[in-house]
Amino acid sequence: MKIAFAEPDLPRSGAAVVGICEERLLTPAARRLDQATDGAITRTLAGAARFSGKKGELLPIVAPAKLPLGRIVLAGLGKPEKADGRIFEELGGALAAHLNGAGESEATVAVDVTEGMPIAAADAAAAIAFGAALRSYRFDKYKTKQKPEQKASLAQLTVLSDAADAAQRAYRPLEQAVAAVFFTRDLVSEPANVIYPETLAEEARSLEKFGVEVEVLDERAMRELGMGALLGVAQGSARPPRLVVMQWHGGGKAAGRAAPLAFIGKGVTFDTGGISIKPAAGMGEMKWDMAGSAVVIGLMRLLAARKAKVDAVGIVGLVENMPSGTAQRPGDIVTSMSGQTIEVLNTDAEGRLVLADAMWYCQDRFKPRLMVDLATLTGAVVVALGHHNAGLFTNDDELAARLTEAGKAVGEAVWRLPLADAYDRDIDSDAADVKNIGGGRAAGSITAAQFLQRFVNKVPWAHLDIAGMAWSSKDAATVPKGATAFGVRLLDRFVAHYYEKG
Ligand code: BES
Ligand code: MN
Ligand code: ZN
Repeated sequence: MKIAFAEPDLPRSGAAVVGICEERLLTPAARRLDQATDGAITRTLAGAARFSGKKGELLPIVAPAKLPLGRIVLAGLGKPEKADGRIFEELGGALAAHLNGAGESEATVAVDVTEGMPIAAADAAAAIAFGAALRSYRFDKYKTKQKPEQKASLAQLTVLSDAADAAQRAYRPLEQAVAAVFFTRDLVSEPANVIYPETLAEEARSLEKFGVEVEVLDERAMRELGMGALLGVAQGSARPPRLVVMQWHGGGKAAGRAAPLAFIGKGVTFDTGGISIKPAAGMGEMKWDMAGSAVVIGLMRLLAARKAKVDAVGIVGLVENMPSGTAQRPGDIVTSMSGQTIEVLNTDAEGRLVLADAMWYCQDRFKPRLMVDLATLTGAVVVALGHHNAGLFTNDDELAARLTEAGKAVGEAVWRLPLADAYDRDIDSDAADVKNIGGGRAAGSITAAQFLQRFVNKVPWAHLDIAGMAWSSKDAATVPKGATAFGVRLLDRFVAHYYEKG
């Protein structure tokens, strides 16, 4: 889909979209089109009792014959004072879905910013384009028999704005965000016979073209570093593990001495559960157990592509969790890079083992200013929060506030859950320093986070359990069903808003 910005004008071909505020209030562009159609819009509004201009409402009408247009779409904007960036993004997303569903190939969006809206015209136009682009993602490379009507139809979207040049400029970094989100969604969507530790590491290496410094550690290097926890998970697979270190140096000279921000991702390219094997039903979903790593890779790409003024490091631990004659057994005791011994009582609690060594390595080498890890870590977080919030665990209240704010701003919500010594007792082991599961099924996401915290060394740290958010079974405004890339936009906003210089 091509996106363009242009100065306001009466739309002359394809579909035309105009905004209606709550209580059937016509925006200026809607009024102009109403006049050009001898009152078609006001007549429709007088009759269409169910459409009142609430946010999210769309009403297509047939354009009168005197205009060279196909359909006119009335788009509800809700209350003007509430029409912020997210509302415009969601509008763009809903429009992309509607127009593709209707088979339109060309559309002009004339949704103006009116008095009382808390957003500049240029930003609103850019947000509409951003939302439309994000929603237009498809992963159909393996569908060889698609009929034309199953393919996306919308080829050209023109957003009108009286600040068209400024809108174009505002859209440039958003375009980079779309590319990074799509990159992450692609990695998450690919099956495990295509994306496994070596191939995912190669994908990360492609970030070099954006100026990211990329190192790939192989099994031998990890063995020398003493990463027994990560290697224990990997030992059942024919696919050798990898640890990828990505560095973006955007902070400039002064940052040469300042510590980087660190992002760590769980990259289990397939999680069978290992010897503690998962049931067959739904196991195919575990191809996306590397979503945390794909988000970190996408985030590093985005920071580099938009030349973020910050120093950041991304580290992903890549393994495949398989049962085999060489797999680790329940009851095995491994020694992590930190020196702490771990009793592996359930081989399906593998993500925390991978992260333990990846996080320790990160702190040991980079002494980061803060560390955020992302992981599809527990089914329990889906029980607790469903598919509407990621679980947030942190040892730092300021980090909690910043991540929560960033999540709200971009529509990727996180909800804080507790850490406490009482839960930490649940992972004390009889045989080793710590065990990799809690007692029973109680507080499974918290005991997982407590386990991670045992490998955190006095650094502000946050853990995002994205098991309920990485993949979606239904369409949302700016996220079609499938891989979501949840976390890329949140962390990009987090970095831009709180850590970049001027
Ligand atoms: N990758 C899973 C968690 C998961 C479950 C992600 C569902 C996405 C959807 C993780 O490795 C796992 O298996 N966790 C176990 C932990 C248990 C053995 C303590 C779980 O949640 O059941
Ligand atoms: Mn598992
Ligand atoms: Zn897993």
